[in-house]
Amino acid sequence: MSAVPFDQKDGWIWMNGSFVPWKDAKIHVLTHGLHYASAVFEGERAYGGEIFKLREHTERLFHSAEILDFKIPYTLDEIDEACKATLTKNGLVDGYLRPIAWRGSDALGVSAQKNKINVAIAAWEWPSYFTPAERLKGIRLDWAKYRRPDPKTAPSLAKASGLYMICTISKHAAESRGYADALMLDWEGNVAEATGANVFFVKDGVIHTPLADRFLNGITRQTVIGLAKAKGIEVVERRIAPEELSTFTECWLCGTAAEVTPVSEIGEYKFTPGKISADLMQAYTDLVQPAKVSA
Ligand SMILES: Cc1ncc(COP(=O)(O)O)c(C=O)c1O
Repeated sequence: MSAVPFDQKDGWIWMNGSFVPWKDAKIHVLTHGLHYASAVFEGERAYGGEIFKLREHTERLFHSAEILDFKIPYTLDEIDEACKATLTKNGLVDGYLRPIAWRGSDALGVSAQKNKINVAIAAWEWPSYFTPAERLKGIRLDWAKYRRPDPKTAPSLAKASGLYMICTISKHAAESRGYADALMLDWEGNVAEATGANVFFVKDGVIHTPLADRFLNGITRQTVIGLAKAKGIEVVERRIAPEELSTFTECWLCGTAAEVTPVSEIGEYKFTPGKISADLMQAYTDLVQPAKVSA
């Protein structure tokens, strides 16, 4: 990652309907989103000038906002167009996009009925979440300190900023112990997901993955399930107990940022990135980067 601080980059950020120079895309310190986490966001990738599954991401952004009880003051088409324009305005062909919507600074208190809903979209170059060397060996995960909350406790199905507090703490703890990331359990103690990606396992040629009814059902997760089924591989979505990890031979994470990243270790359990991981890693690359494959 570049050494330039994120608020000091060059470029343009789409903010509430127009482009502002990157360094001027600021908010007030009394912003509701900052104090009370009333913010929802997306992470998208563009490959060869096309934003992968843009409409699905925009729909999820709107859905997350609805869960947090606010309405994005644009149409789905307007946000799609703004994402595309942000990519172009920044001269990017391959890159990462970050749309975010948040309650503004009109009033500060738990209640924020009249606060303006702001939307911004930034885009930047981001080749890969994990380095290619890490990816080939499989990354190492620690057990996370925190568990995913019960949907009765927090808006678990939204991509909401507040839910990432426990992800950052868990990931920092893992990194300080030399791991790349952390695997989180759900509140009942079943395997859930990593701090920013979903998880898959393989046993006897069958793929097993936690049921995504209590954490983000990633767009990449859904894509990878489709790719596996198209290859005739059985995919079982179910509750997975952590002790079961000793019976799995392969494991990978997937998400917009992580793409398909094999895992070699989760705490005391070891995996060997094998044929199914490699095939799906390739199938995902072929799907998102069609231009490169045919070149
Ligand atoms: C907590 C969490 N789970 C899963 C995912 C994967 O979602 P997607 O594949 O839609 O990027 C992400 C990334 O957005 C995430 O932050």
